[in-house]
Amino acid sequence: MEDVREEELSRGLLQFIQDSPSVFHVIDNMKKRLEEAGFEERRERDHWELRPGGAYYVTRNDSSLIAFRLPQVFAAEGECPFQGYHIVAAHSDSPTFKVKALPETVAEKQYVRLNVEKYGGMILSTWLDRPLSVAGRVAVRRSDGGVDMRLVNLDRDLLVIPNLAVHMNRDVNKGYEYNPQTDMLPLMGLLPENPDGEAKESGPQGMLLREIAGQLGILPEDILDGDLYLYVREKGRVLGSRGELILSPKLDDLQCVYAGLEGFVSAVSEKYANVLAVFDNEEVGSGTRQGADSTFLEDVLLRIQDSMGYGPSVYRQLVAGSFLISADNAHAVHPAYPEKADITNRPVLGGGIVIKYHGGQKYTSDAMSAAQMKLWCERAGVPCQTFANRSDMVGGSTLGNISTAHVSLASVDIGLPQLAMHSAVETGSSRDTAYAVAVFERFWQE
Ligand code: CO
Repeated sequence: MEDVREEELSRGLLQFIQDSPSVFHVIDNMKKRLEEAGFEERRERDHWELRPGGAYYVTRNDSSLIAFRLPQVFAAEGECPFQGYHIVAAHSDSPTFKVKALPETVAEKQYVRLNVEKYGGMILSTWLDRPLSVAGRVAVRRSDGGVDMRLVNLDRDLLVIPNLAVHMNRDVNKGYEYNPQTDMLPLMGLLPENPDGEAKESGPQGMLLREIAGQLGILPEDILDGDLYLYVREKGRVLGSRGELILSPKLDDLQCVYAGLEGFVSAVSEKYANVLAVFDNEEVGSGTRQGADSTFLEDVLLRIQDSMGYGPSVYRQLVAGSFLISADNAHAVHPAYPEKADITNRPVLGGGIVIKYHGGQKYTSDAMSAAQMKLWCERAGVPCQTFANRSDMVGGSTLGNISTAHVSLASVDIGLPQLAMHSAVETGSSRDTAYAVAVFERFWQE
C-alpha cells in the first residue's frame, strides 16, 4: 500500500466524519460525493427509468442510502441481463444521545441542562468533560401548509456533561455505574442574570429551539419537530510515532462507509451491478423502515428489474448470483486486555481486513463466502485476518444476517480492526482504511 494514498485517505476519512455530525449529514455528504461522480438520484415515490451503464442512488428517511451502478452491456434477450449484484453494506449511525422533546431543565435556579436519552450502547463515561454540540434535522412549517426538512448543525462548543469531583466520589476509580437520566444530562449554560424582563419567570423552555431557529433564519414557532442528537466536537486526528493511528469519533462504522464510498465511485464491472448500501439504526437493532431489517434493499433491487422490464424470476436468478460484503468495524486485540480476545483469532490494528465468524451465525461468513473474500483480498494485495468471539463470551451483532433475511444471498461479515468501540472517540489505523478501499475496488471491478 502506498503511503501517499494512505495519508490522503486518512485525511479524507477524518474530514468526512467531521462534516457528518449526525446520520442525516452522513447521507447528505454521501449524496454530494456521488453526485460529483455523476450518480443520479432516483426517488422511491417516482417512476424509474434506468439504462445500462447508469449510476444511481436512492435514499430513505434521509438517513439510509443505496447507490448502484449497472453494467454497460446487458446479455441478449431471454437471458439474465447480468450475473448478479455485488453489494457492500455498512451503517450510517453511531451511538449518541438523542435530545428529548421539551429538553430544557433547570437545576439550582441557575444551571440549564438538556434532557437527553441514549441512542445505542456507548461507553457512558467517555462523553463526560468534553465539548459537545447538537446536530440533526428539524421539520419546518412551510407557508403553503407543507413541511420542509432542514439539516441542523449548531457547529459551536455548546455543551458539556461535567463529572463529579473525585473528592465527592472517592470510589470513582473503583468503577461507577452512570445513570443515563441523572448523570448524563449536558449543561447548556446558566440562566441569564436579567433576561429581557421575563425569561427568569418563563424559564429556559425553548432555548435550544431559539438557537436553532436563529441559525436557520426562521421563527422558533415554525419548527414543528426535530430529530436532534449530541455530537463530540473534537476533530479526528492522526497520531502514533509514524502517523499510523487514527483517533476519531464514529470510526464504527463511518470508516467502512467512507472506504465503501471511495471504492465505489469509480469502480465499473462488466458482469455485475455494483451496490453500496448504507443503513441507519444498526445501533438500535435495525428494525426501522430504513434499517437493515426493512424492505429497503429488496425494494431497490426489485425495482431495478421492474424498471428494465424483467420479471420476478430474473430477480431470483440475480439474487442467486449475488454477493454481499457486510462491513462493520471489528475488535482488534487490546494491548491491555489480551485475555478478552479469542485464543487464536486475534486481529490487530494495521493488519488488514477482518473476516468475522460466529458459530451461532450472527455473522454470515462461511467457508464459501470467506474463501471468496480471501481471494478478493489476495487479488488486491491486501492482508486479511480473522475474528471470533471467545467461546465463553457474547459478542455484538451487525447487519449482514439481518439483510440476508430479506434478500437471501451469499454473504461474508468483515470489518476494520479498531480499539475502544462505542467510546466517544475510537482508535483505528490509517492503513486499514486504504486496505478496505483497495479490496472494495477489486470486488466491484469483477
Ligand atoms: Co458497527
